[in-house]
Amino acid sequence: MERAGLAWVDVSNAVPSPVTAATIDAAAARVAEVVSRTPLELNARLSQATGAQVWLKREDLQPVRSYKIRGAYNLIVQLDHDARARGVVCASAGNHAQGVALACQRLGVHGRIFVPGTTPRQKRERIVTLGGTDVEVIVVGDSYEDALWAAQLDSDASGAVMVPAFDDPRTISGQGTVAPEIVEQLGSAPDVVVLPVGGGGLIAGIGTWLADRHPATRTVGAEPMGAASMTAAMDAGRPVPLESVDPFVDGAAVGTVGQHTYPLVRDAGAGIVTVDEGHLCTEMLRLYQSDGIIAEPAGALATAALDGLEIEPGSTVVCVVSGGNNDVSRYGEILERSLIHRGLKHYFLVSFPQEPGALRRFLDDVLGPDDDITLFDYVKRNNRENGPALIGIELADRNDLPGLLARLDDSQLGVEQVPPGSPMFHYLV
Ligand SMILES: Cc1ncc(COP(=O)(O)O)c(C=O)c1O
Repeated sequence: MERAGLAWVDVSNAVPSPVTAATIDAAAARVAEVVSRTPLELNARLSQATGAQVWLKREDLQPVRSYKIRGAYNLIVQLDHDARARGVVCASAGNHAQGVALACQRLGVHGRIFVPGTTPRQKRERIVTLGGTDVEVIVVGDSYEDALWAAQLDSDASGAVMVPAFDDPRTISGQGTVAPEIVEQLGSAPDVVVLPVGGGGLIAGIGTWLADRHPATRTVGAEPMGAASMTAAMDAGRPVPLESVDPFVDGAAVGTVGQHTYPLVRDAGAGIVTVDEGHLCTEMLRLYQSDGIIAEPAGALATAALDGLEIEPGSTVVCVVSGGNNDVSRYGEILERSLIHRGLKHYFLVSFPQEPGALRRFLDDVLGPDDDITLFDYVKRNNRENGPALIGIELADRNDLPGLLARLDDSQLGVEQVPPGSPMFHYLV
């Protein structure tokens, strides 16, 4: 058996797509019994920054804290009695699993949920809380593809129904139900809808509905730079596997987009942009600090993408805040990546002479008045003249860097800057 997702057939050329605006409207009626009609809120910060009216569709406020309940419930509720009795399986980086878990619990269907080891603990715990005794969580491998493979084997062996996280017409139609809700709440179609992209389920659904019902609305998908699988598919003209995937944006870290999702996104004429992970971290912090919104990395992709988009002043833009399942232990890394991205945090390897007063001279001569040492890791070696220290410095202003570098240069100390993202950086920091 070949691992799923590698062989590609353009299903859109074979038969008319089973996802249409009508299947999305039908899904909307089905999921209404379990899905919250999440608020659509005008955001002052982003409106001011862009000169447009920027609205946030708060899917982070779903009972499962992401839009994923829409697709999962739309699929499972359509299973007949025999299929429900066999139970369901799914693979998920965490949020789809929560949707499946709640759907299982509400419909009394047994579910086995495969998650990769990279799934944050917070998400694993939520799956168990939502699904109760109706679900089992099985941790396997370290990527979404590993979990998918294991779930497929289970489904083949047990006859349980696979509930795909994105690549199934019923999942896609369910995710698409966000679109009619936005238009109803706004009272008219927005000029632009910006939303995150992982495997492409959300954008395939929303893009299909908007292209049919409101073709003047522009749909823009935002994906992480380290997992730009929809961009790769657009470039290649078909879904292609990425050579490597950065797991940081765990909701959207998908190596290959779907066979169903890709042609729908292409035919809807959606645009795709990529977002740098450091910039995404800064936007997560702004959402938290300025707007009081806890967004997970994937949930902040759409608003983070606004900076790089051409937005007509006065236009109406809706950004989908897709999920809010952020593990609190991740904020340390998020802060760090944001500081590095903003040019405020720098690391150096400094070789100190092994003599009294060397550190005092460094503090007096090299450190500027607003420079803050955030890391000092020093190993004194008795049999050497110099001892190396790894030093992290946080600046108050990114423009303070040239001065710091000049003073380091003048200090006669051996100094090596540790470039962010380099192998040395990953090893040391
Ligand atoms: C919060 C969140 N946003 C966006 C995505 C990307 O979704 P899709 O695979 O539908 O493109 C996911 C996927 O799990 C997610 O959990």
